[in-house]
Amino acid sequence: MDKMDILVIGGGGREHAIVHALSKSPRAGRIYCAPSNAGINMIAEGVGLAVSDFEGICDFLDTHPNIKLTVVAPDNPLADGLVNELEARGHRAFGPRAEAAIIEASKKFAKELMKNNNIPTAAYEAFSDCGPAVEYLKKTAYPVVVKADGLAYGKGVTICSSFAEAKKAVEEILLDNIFGNKNPSVVIEEFLEGREVSVLAFTDGKTIKAMPPSQDHKRAYDGDRGPNTGGMGAFSPSPYYTKEMGEWAMKHIFLPTVRAMSEMGRKFKGVIYFGLMMCKDGIKVLEYNSRFGDPETQAVLPLLKTDLLDIMEAVIDERLDEIDIEWSGETAVTVVYASGGYPGSYEKGKEVAIGDVGGCFVYHAGTAIKDGKLVTSGGRVLAVTAKGKDIPDAREKAYAALKNIRIDGGFYRTDIGLK
Ligand code: AMP
Ligand code: GLY
Repeated sequence: MDKMDILVIGGGGREHAIVHALSKSPRAGRIYCAPSNAGINMIAEGVGLAVSDFEGICDFLDTHPNIKLTVVAPDNPLADGLVNELEARGHRAFGPRAEAAIIEASKKFAKELMKNNNIPTAAYEAFSDCGPAVEYLKKTAYPVVVKADGLAYGKGVTICSSFAEAKKAVEEILLDNIFGNKNPSVVIEEFLEGREVSVLAFTDGKTIKAMPPSQDHKRAYDGDRGPNTGGMGAFSPSPYYTKEMGEWAMKHIFLPTVRAMSEMGRKFKGVIYFGLMMCKDGIKVLEYNSRFGDPETQAVLPLLKTDLLDIMEAVIDERLDEIDIEWSGETAVTVVYASGGYPGSYEKGKEVAIGDVGGCFVYHAGTAIKDGKLVTSGGRVLAVTAKGKDIPDAREKAYAALKNIRIDGGFYRTDIGLK
C-alpha cells in the first residue's frame, strides 16, 4: 500500500483531533502540522510556519514532495485563499476555496444566499451606513442581534436587549471599525429562541454527508453565564436533534445550500458547518462555517470509524457518493480547560500537569514546551474527551480525568452536557 505524507494547517484542539484521526489511517505516512502545538508534536512533526504564511507553506510543500495532501483547518487561511494558492502551485488540498469559504467570512453573503433560496433563518437587514442602521434600530423589536460582517474571531455577535446597547454595537462596527474590515458592514437580525445544534458535514459540492450532531457551550462559565468564547465544551451526538429533524434539515437546508453554492460558481468542497437553532416554529440557520468547529471536532471525530483520509480524498475527487461513512454509536463529551482570564486577557507560560486520564483523550490546544516543561500558550489549553454509552456516562469519565489534570490558574466548566 502506498503511503502518503500529509500537512495539516492549524495548531489548536481541532487540529489535534484531525491529526489524531488521520494518524489512524493505514495510508498515512508522516504527518506534519503548522504551526502545531506540544500535544500534536507527540504524534506529528511540528513545522514553524504561521497559518498566514502562504509563501512559506507553498515553499515547504515544494521541498517535501511526499506530502500529497494539505488539510487547511482554520477559517482565516480558508477565507484568504490558501486552498486557491496551493492548487495554483500544484498541491492537493482539503478545504473550500476562498470563493466558497465566503459563506462563513461574510454574514451578509450568507444571509442573502438563504433569502434567495428560501433557507429558513432569522429575519434581517444589512447596513454599511450608520444612519440608516440606527433608524432601523429605533423601529425594531428587542432583544435584537447585531453581527459584524467578516471574520471577527468569534467576537462579532452581540445580543442587545436595548436600543442603547444595539446603537453602541453598531457604532463600534461601522464608525470605530473595531474589527478592522476594509468595508465594514453589519447584519441586524431577529433574536431566535431555542436550543442550538451544530451539524458538521462533508461535502464535495454535489453530495453532502452529515456527521453526528453536536452541541457547543459558548459561554465561559457554568449555567451559560459570562462572556462568549470560542467554545468551552461539546457533546455528540445531540439527543435533542432527532433523525426526523436531520432528514428535514437535509432537504430544506443542507442540500439547498450546497446546490446554491455550486450554481453560483462557488462549489463548496470540504467541511461545512451548520449552526442551527431548533425554534418552536422549526429549525433555522444561525450561521455557516466553512470548516470543522472547535471544540465540536474533539467530540465528533473520536466517533468516526471510517478512515478520515479516504473521506478527504473522496471529497477532493468529488466521489463522496461512493463512500459509506460509519460512526461508532457511542457518545462523546469534551471539556475545555482554559487559561484564567480567557476569553479576556490571560498570562501564558503557566504550568500544565497531566496525570492519569484513564481511557480519555487529551487534545492540546494552547500548549508549548518551555525549559522541558509543558506550559500554556493560548486561551483554550486542553480539550479532554471521553466516550461512553450516553452523555452521563461520558461526562463522568471526562470529569474523572479532569481531576488528574491541573493548569496553574486555569478553569473549566463543570456542567458540560448537563443541559
Ligand atoms: P454566530 O457567529 O452567527 O453563530 O453567532 C454566535 C452565537 O450567537 C450563536 O451561536 C448564538 O448563540 C448566538 N446567536 C447568533 N445569532 C442569533 C440569533 N439570531 N438569535 C439568537 N442567538 C443568536
Ligand atoms: N465552536 C464554534 C466554532 O467553531 O465556530
